[in-house]
Amino acid sequence: MLSKFLFSSAATLMALSSLANAQTNITEKDCASTSEYSKCNKDVADKWSSCLQGCNGDGNCAVDCGCNSHQQYINCMAESCWNQVYSCKYQLFVQQYFAVCPSAEEPIPFWPPPNNAPNRCSCDIGKVTQTTLSSRNQQIQCMQNVTDQISTDVSNINLSNLNNGLDIANRASDCACCGASASISAAWDICPNTEPTLAGVDMWGVFFPSNLPNLYTSLPNWAWSSCDSTLQDTKCQDLGFTDADKFYKPGDFPDNGTSTLYNVGGTVTAPPSGTVLTWSQTSTTYTITATGYDIKAVASQSEYRATATGTDQAFATQTADSGAGAVRNGGLGAVVAGILAVLML
Ligand SMILES: *[C@@H]1O[C@H](CO)[C@@H](O)[C@H](O)[C@H]1NC(C)=O
Ligand SMILES: *[C@@H]1O[C@H](CO)[C@@H](O)[C@H](O)[C@H]1NC(C)=O
Ligand SMILES: *[C@@H]1O[C@H](CO)[C@@H](O)[C@H](O)[C@H]1NC(C)=O
Ligand SMILES: *[C@@H]1O[C@H](CO)[C@@H](O)[C@H](O)[C@H]1NC(C)=O
Repeated sequence: MLSKFLFSSAATLMALSSLANAQTNITEKDCASTSEYSKCNKDVADKWSSCLQGCNGDGNCAVDCGCNSHQQYINCMAESCWNQVYSCKYQLFVQQYFAVCPSAEEPIPFWPPPNNAPNRCSCDIGKVTQTTLSSRNQQIQCMQNVTDQISTDVSNINLSNLNNGLDIANRASDCACCGASASISAAWDICPNTEPTLAGVDMWGVFFPSNLPNLYTSLPNWAWSSCDSTLQDTKCQDLGFTDADKFYKPGDFPDNGTSTLYNVGGTVTAPPSGTVLTWSQTSTTYTITATGYDIKAVASQSEYRATATGTDQAFATQTADSGAGAVRNGGLGAVVAGILAVLML
């Protein structure tokens, strides 16, 4: 089972290798407080490693260690590297967090960045990832409706509909094509100038791997490349895919961008969340105090925030609104973390 995942998905391999050097990749000396930041990161790395050892190879336990460590790395950013939180590297780190932690849930601090944020990534990777995540949820809902339809028909013993299996398969195929298209198209739509791979085109494979058979039970032979005719005739928005603007067909994508990722828009001069940030994941709430700021910059931060946001997006305290339980059995996170645990022990 594991080897199947390991070898059948380049995206899984990608997620794996990035997890093995799971740090934020931020250059420490670029941080508001370099010494605090390196100390904080080192603590997290040490704790992560002992957490994994305590798991004795248990996959779910290893997933928990990974989730917690990623949260702690985010805390390090809020504490002493808040000036880099809109950068490409932090936005990539949050992408990785969602890829390895099944219980990760929005809102995540500083993610995605507000429009026109200072020192932001040239491609809004956060927004691409967010579109992938919402497409996945909408696809699950869309598939759920198909399944509900089947059980309604069965409980009513409505043979006239059950014989209509072709419709059901078509509908399921619509759901699958719309979800994949919404996610993949986001890389071109949100970051038209960026190389699609860097913009996150592979995220769909990471978050909704087509080689997880249980996700596509009604569609054993579904393939993204077969979606041209489906998308020709389907209004994805009417099927509940409301968060994406573009649904390109496999054979009908715009030209690829060629840019790499780089940061634009000046510098962050005061902690974007104010001096104290509160945020939550599942049942844990963190309160983080920023260090290394210039008191004058903080004093003028309301003005700063106004210029930094340009929209009404909240710089304010971010707190998750629900403690929804984690789905830990199976899933990419478990697979990745399970393998990682084996590699590291
Ligand atoms: C960190 O850098 C390594 C090496 O380039 C890369 O493989 C990994 O994906 C990066 N991690 C993140 C979170 O960006
Ligand atoms: C069976 O489905 C058909 C078509 O949707 C519908 O017209 C009919 O009322 C249903 N019969 C029952 C018993 O639910
Ligand atoms: C554009 O990018 C996609 C995704 O990386 C790739 O599959 C495709 O081959 C590229 N197209 C061209 C013309 O280079
Ligand atoms: C899916 O089912 C839910 C609950 O019955 C319904 O509210 C929603 O409109 C349905 N969505 C679509 C796209 O049919």
